[in-house]
Amino acid sequence: MQYYFNVENLSINFGGVKAVNNISFAVEKNMIFSIIGPNGSGKTTIFNMISGIYKPNSGKILFEGRDIVGLRPDKIARVGIARTFQNIQLFGNAAVVSNLMLGRHIHMHTGVFSAAFMWGRKSAVAKEERDHTRKVEKIIDFLELQKFRDHLVSSLSYGKRKLVELGRALALEPKILLLDEPSAGMNTEEKEDIRIWIKDIQEELGVTILLIEHDMNMVMGISDRIFVMNQGVKIIEGTAVEVQNHPEVIKAYLGDRRK
Ligand SMILES: Nc1ncnc2c1ncn2[C@@H]1O[C@H](COP(=O)(O)OP(=O)(O)O)[C@@H](O)[C@H]1O
Ligand SMILES: [Mg+2]
Repeated sequence: MQYYFNVENLSINFGGVKAVNNISFAVEKNMIFSIIGPNGSGKTTIFNMISGIYKPNSGKILFEGRDIVGLRPDKIARVGIARTFQNIQLFGNAAVVSNLMLGRHIHMHTGVFSAAFMWGRKSAVAKEERDHTRKVEKIIDFLELQKFRDHLVSSLSYGKRKLVELGRALALEPKILLLDEPSAGMNTEEKEDIRIWIKDIQEELGVTILLIEHDMNMVMGISDRIFVMNQGVKIIEGTAVEVQNHPEVIKAYLGDRRK
């Protein structure tokens, strides 16, 4: 069996607590693969290990056949894995377009600061900047953020800020996008919008998506596969139909819908 992105026997402990305990799953290219479970299940911790923020105590994370465990977060972004955070992490006092440009920094050869010292290669620097700008403008168009391009992020509604955060992750031109509770705190209309964006990102941009989400309507409607966990361990993995009637899912997950 050949897969695109595999997590194999992944475990991490925090002071004796097995936050993630021997978790394995396989994600095929261009899939929406969702991870659900009550608060404290270990979902975000899995994302933190995938994105290189935490190093697992054991296990492998294989992307296109390569084990990425031990790579620094910037390297993991460079191989094509981008993420958003459970709590928005943007520069509020910068414009939307600037936040997206910062999302492209891993692709900048010259770097924002070193560019100032590159007077010998001015035209190359200018060309590179134009390329980055063009790609960022494409994402602004794609997410229909033109109207807000020059607005400060802090002046935007919560739903729009979440969209900008999505844009910043897309600015990396990722192959895999990790979304941690993208609809948290949103109203019904914003939730519907974000669900459509996620589907568009899968279908139009061809990105593979790992989704942590508490909104069951969204999860059941959008996911190709759903992985259910509780207290660090796997409960079941399957399609929406396979998962939603599982007694342990009802007990473990629907028993706690606080968040
Ligand atoms: N840096 C950390 N230090 C100590 N414990 C942590 C740390 N990160 C996560 N945990 C613990 O790991 C468990 C899983 O947390 P988390 O992955 O955030 O859960 P979820 O995202 O499913 O709500 C929780 O018990 C949490 O307190
Ligand atoms: Mg979490």
